[in-house]
Amino acid sequence: MTNAHPLEAAASPFEVARTAASDIARLTGVERHDIAVTLGSGWGRAAELIGETVAEIPATEVTGFSKPALEGHVGTIRSLRTAGGRHVLVIGARTHYYEGHGVRRVVHSVRTAAATGATTMVLTNGAGGIRETWRAGQPVLISDHINLTADSPLEGATFIDLTDLYSARLREIARSVDPSLDEGVYCQFRGPHYETPAEVRMARAIGGDIVGMSTALEAIAAREAGMEVLGFSLITNLAAGISPDPLSHEEVIDAGRQAEPVISGLLAKVIERL
Ligand code: HPA
Repeated sequence: MTNAHPLEAAASPFEVARTAASDIARLTGVERHDIAVTLGSGWGRAAELIGETVAEIPATEVTGFSKPALEGHVGTIRSLRTAGGRHVLVIGARTHYYEGHGVRRVVHSVRTAAATGATTMVLTNGAGGIRETWRAGQPVLISDHINLTADSPLEGATFIDLTDLYSARLREIARSVDPSLDEGVYCQFRGPHYETPAEVRMARAIGGDIVGMSTALEAIAAREAGMEVLGFSLITNLAAGISPDPLSHEEVIDAGRQAEPVISGLLAKVIERL
């Protein structure tokens, strides 16, 4: 007997997402959410500032969610209420593509967020910066992406338009909070190794500004679900070869910790205006 993961066994990943959404409604007591936020490295403390916590549940109690593979990623799902009375679903447990469990597991949180009623998906991450003018600890908006995973969350002949995937309207709102916010094109690599300097040069040559291991596949699934997407990267380090120093996971986590108070405040203010 195999003990298949619900997403592997299911005919439709959307059905599993609907079950997960009803788990969330039952466990949080909140029937519908308006906005969903995925917190990547460095963004963890934003939840406290976004609104009051209505409920916090371990992600593992929700159908289809897995334990986070990584230290620095919080494995809880929270339901918050903003000062304006809107319900925000905060996803602290991201499943990364490099974990090798397939794309359904990677985008399950996004599909679940859509099934809870959320029409806006805010995706945040920690990433490497390709532009020399950027510094570790700086948040940037994602303006577009290049998906280098050679994979897609879409199944079958599902043709989805990705023009304006990272909503220009939402980026404008973010810049109304912080006019100094720069923006760039996010390249999703498979990981979990960091890129080689040659790969970073390639990313730059094809139009990339940011290198990371998440977000693009999630953004595609969010668009498929009809959500408006806002993406933020915290530049935790200059990408390999841009910085003369070798990369380390500790450096990434440290940069996140140091930037956390500032970027968390920024994110909370932006969400209040969405
Ligand atoms: N590359 C890929 N992913 C990352 C990086 C990087 O330089 N920094 C943080 N996440």
